[in-house]
Amino acid sequence: MKPLDPRLLKHARTTRTFLVASVVLGAATAGLIIAQATLLADMLTRAFLGGATLGDLRVPLLLLLAVVLGRALVAWLQEVAAHRSSAAVKSQLRARLLAHALRLGPRWLSGERSGELATLATRGIDALDDYFSRYLPQLVLAVIVPVAVGARILLGDWLSAVTIAVTLPLIPVFAILVGLTTQRKMDRQWRTLSVLSAHFLDVVAGLPTLKIFGRARAQADKIREVTDRHRRATMSTLRIAFLSALVLELLSTISVALVAVSIGLRLVEGGLGLETALLVLILAPEAYLPLRQVGAQYHASVEGLTAAGRIFEVLETPAPASASAPGTRAGVGVPDLGRATIRFDNVTVAYDSREAPALDGLSLTVHPGETVALTGPSGAGKSTALAVLLGFVRPDSGRVLVDWADLADLDPDAWRARIAWVPQRPHLFTGTIAANIRLGRPDASDADVRAAAQAANALPFIDALPDGLDTPLGEHGLGLSAGQRQRIALARAFLRDAPLLLLDEPTSNLDMESEAAVLDAVRRLAASRTVILVAHRPALVALADRTIPVPLRPEPVTT
Ligand SMILES: Nc1ncnc2c1ncn2[C@@H]1O[C@H](COP(=O)(O)OP(=O)(O)OP(=O)(O)O)[C@@H](O)[C@H]1O
Ligand SMILES: [Mg+2]
Repeated sequence: MKPLDPRLLKHARTTRTFLVASVVLGAATAGLIIAQATLLADMLTRAFLGGATLGDLRVPLLLLLAVVLGRALVAWLQEVAAHRSSAAVKSQLRARLLAHALRLGPRWLSGERSGELATLATRGIDALDDYFSRYLPQLVLAVIVPVAVGARILLGDWLSAVTIAVTLPLIPVFAILVGLTTQRKMDRQWRTLSVLSAHFLDVVAGLPTLKIFGRARAQADKIREVTDRHRRATMSTLRIAFLSALVLELLSTISVALVAVSIGLRLVEGGLGLETALLVLILAPEAYLPLRQVGAQYHASVEGLTAAGRIFEVLETPAPASASAPGTRAGVGVPDLGRATIRFDNVTVAYDSREAPALDGLSLTVHPGETVALTGPSGAGKSTALAVLLGFVRPDSGRVLVDWADLADLDPDAWRARIAWVPQRPHLFTGTIAANIRLGRPDASDADVRAAAQAANALPFIDALPDGLDTPLGEHGLGLSAGQRQRIALARAFLRDAPLLLLDEPTSNLDMESEAAVLDAVRRLAASRTVILVAHRPALVALADRTIPVPLRPEPVTT
């Protein structure tokens, strides 16, 4: 892994500003280090050789105080810049990750583990804090300080400068060797953590099922095992980190000792003045320090970098063409659905992971204002056909025409604005019932929300709740029955008031009485709209003007 990932500069612009600030502050630090050493060497020489008293040294002492305060100030500024930048970069990356995940759409998301994505967006990105507050500034110092200090030493004593120039590169060489090992371990550690979180999420969500089938204990063991793997991976990374600190410390101590021995010998022989000798001795360790520290900080930052790398992978996954560039083909306006015919022309969809297509050459025509029912066996691709119409899935071959415009050429947002959809498994969000219904049309009045709930036959049960429409729901609509959830999703679609209504088995969880009430509402809505419904139940099929069978493709012959 590169010390500075160029993708970080590309995806998080704040990083550039921060680098510039770090370079300026790093140069200031180098200047202050040299000033401090010069002042010290000067004072010590005057005190020992010149017999200067404390009074004589008042000016350099005050200057030294100023230098020390200056270094504190620079350190503080660096901290402030680091924390501001890392906060900004984290929020930029999070926003981009989220926006891109949305653009990639449900088809991509179904292939990802939501646990891993959640870990990335939260803990993963947080690990960048160390990268910004510790590693990056240190990296800049590691370039500036040795050069500046080396140049100053060269002016005083070339032999020491040469010694330093020869030994200094050993530190990065060893650091890189150790770093390569850490990198591999860290990758593994990150993978275990992702597995752990994905697995954990899965198990928690499926706990009732596991309990019933007596597998809860086995899962606990499995989690224990993965946790243990994670612990071992962390410990072995840490061991290497500590070892690397030892190696680098040893190297720089020996190098400084080399410089010191040569200076000592020449001092005794009288080949070197005390002031220069002192200056070199004080400065020499300063040349090694930042390089050594950058090695140590690297380990602290690897986690953040690894997570950032995963984020960049997601960000650089190309989005489906129609979704990635909303508005670029705005030339093609969405046809008026009140008059447009929708045609599926030999549409085939194959999910990446499957060999057999989910939808095999479906052709159908829906005239404006019609109500059609898609029927067919489970797994035939009815929901997939709706997903194609919604623009979530792109046909692998064939096309969908809305009047004479190809669906792929329409601006996806403008197209979806004309659709109300009740998915087969509607998603309810944490929030009140009213807020969940209002998703259909955010500016709807309270009266409209009530009317929509009424049409979906949801009002009777909502009014029976102590808080009515303001009842808060848990995650995924926790606290409601499946039929109640379905009716809220229906109310949401009714409120939307869109010219095209897509219903995916909207009454599968309802009793006959509720179903009748909902069908009444659908019938009323259908009067002025195009409706495509996926239906198994006869009552729903009866509602349609026409049925379109979606056949189950023949099973592929495996040889
Ligand atoms: N995200 C996915 N990844 C891979 N395969 C999928 C995915 N979603 C659906 N499939 C497959 O595509 C085929 C069609 O699925 P689809 O959900 O469209 O069927 P359906 O007709 O709606 O069935 P049902 O009546 O049971 O709802 C199935 O074989 C299914 O296994
Ligand atoms: Mg379905």
